[in-house]
Amino acid sequence: MKFIIETYGCQMNVADSEMISTIMENSGYELTDTLTDADIIMFNTCSVRQHAEDRVIGRISNEVARKISNKNLVIGVVGCMAQRLGKELGEMNTKIDFVVGVDNYFKLPEIIEGLYNKRHFVSSVDMNHKEIYHDIYPIRSNELNAFVTIMRGCNNFCTYCIVPYVRGRERSRSVDEIIKEIKIAGEKGIKEVTLLGQNVNSYSWEGINFPKLLQKVNKVDGISRVRFVTSHPKDISDELIETMASCDKVCEHIHLPVQSGNNEILKVMNRNYTAEHYLNRISKLRSLIPNIAITTDVIAGFPGETEEQFQDTYNLMKEIRYDFAFMFKYSPRIGTKAAEFNNQVEEAVRLERLQRLIDLQTEITHEKYKEQIGQIKEVYVEGPSKKDENEYSGKSRDFKITIFPGDESLVGKLIKVKVEDAVGWTLKGHLVE
Ligand code: 5AD
Ligand code: SF4
Repeated sequence: MKFIIETYGCQMNVADSEMISTIMENSGYELTDTLTDADIIMFNTCSVRQHAEDRVIGRISNEVARKISNKNLVIGVVGCMAQRLGKELGEMNTKIDFVVGVDNYFKLPEIIEGLYNKRHFVSSVDMNHKEIYHDIYPIRSNELNAFVTIMRGCNNFCTYCIVPYVRGRERSRSVDEIIKEIKIAGEKGIKEVTLLGQNVNSYSWEGINFPKLLQKVNKVDGISRVRFVTSHPKDISDELIETMASCDKVCEHIHLPVQSGNNEILKVMNRNYTAEHYLNRISKLRSLIPNIAITTDVIAGFPGETEEQFQDTYNLMKEIRYDFAFMFKYSPRIGTKAAEFNNQVEEAVRLERLQRLIDLQTEITHEKYKEQIGQIKEVYVEGPSKKDENEYSGKSRDFKITIFPGDESLVGKLIKVKVEDAVGWTLKGHLVE
């Protein structure tokens, strides 16, 4: 039996899909990358914004239509949306065979086998706040980058966010399992690892905190680059910043979602920091790690946000000059506190504010990328560029896509590129040495 997983949302889902592949293969199922070959199609889904859910619903109905010609096709939904909607998903779209939530992936082989015996819809979405998928080492869908989950869940309950409800409470994976997984990646020739967690800064295992874990990861042979997402501004300690500065493999990039630049909004978001604290962390990062790239997430039009409060976000972004930002208009998620607030901002206003942020950030990104011209960057070559097959593409340590004339032999290598131009969000240059 062959299965395929289509993955949506964040890198945590990418890592979960690789883990699901291991669980399935351990039970004799075979992974395929061709939809038409698959006997089982799984959608690993995201719930963070309504748009993410709508997109996947569209995709599912396309595939479900194929059941007419392939009666044995089994289709299931896993991930955050499965967890959030559970049985409801089956009722919305009666042709789905199963829904399995984020803590129940160990049950997948058994559930699927059961379906072949008696075909009726199965939903398995009980939460288990302790499930950490002990002893499962993922089958990598990506041969160059290892996404390694170090903790699952979130205890922060930002008032807009559905994640704590669908992913449950924070729990950390053991240091030994994490290091073992990274060693396996290193032995396979993978040079870059990204440590994943909803809030990596609250990693904790038998007295080892996140900075200490980073120091251990920094020592693993074969690995040349270490990244991590996501950090919470309230938990970025001096110890972490100092560790980032002193560990040679830890890349000069941090993703630090600010969400808003206004203290009252930050308070109702339950973010537990002020704009001043955030700015203080940015200056500490920039003073200890010159040239660090800083990226962020921002939400426009959170309930109650006035034009003045929005201006604070706009001005903060102008002041910080992020290298890149993921910008969203607020999307009410049923079950979260903010969705209940009776001062929702009109959709048109949310959109218009979002557009102003996008315009500002696009300009800043262009300027920041132009500033890179003349520099020599280390690039980890990933493959041919999408637009021109004679150009190859990779990422710099500070997380910028860099393209240059090259060939297949460079894929998977760390090379030096002299930047000659910056076009949009891409640096262009030539190989040096
Ligand atoms: N509406 C809009 N954006 C959201 N995010 C999380 N929840 C919502 C929501 N309800 C954004 C945050 C977070 C990123 C992953 O998604 O900016 O950092
Ligand atoms: Fe959501 Fe906040 Fe947790 Fe991030 S820290 S996953 S935004 S609740």
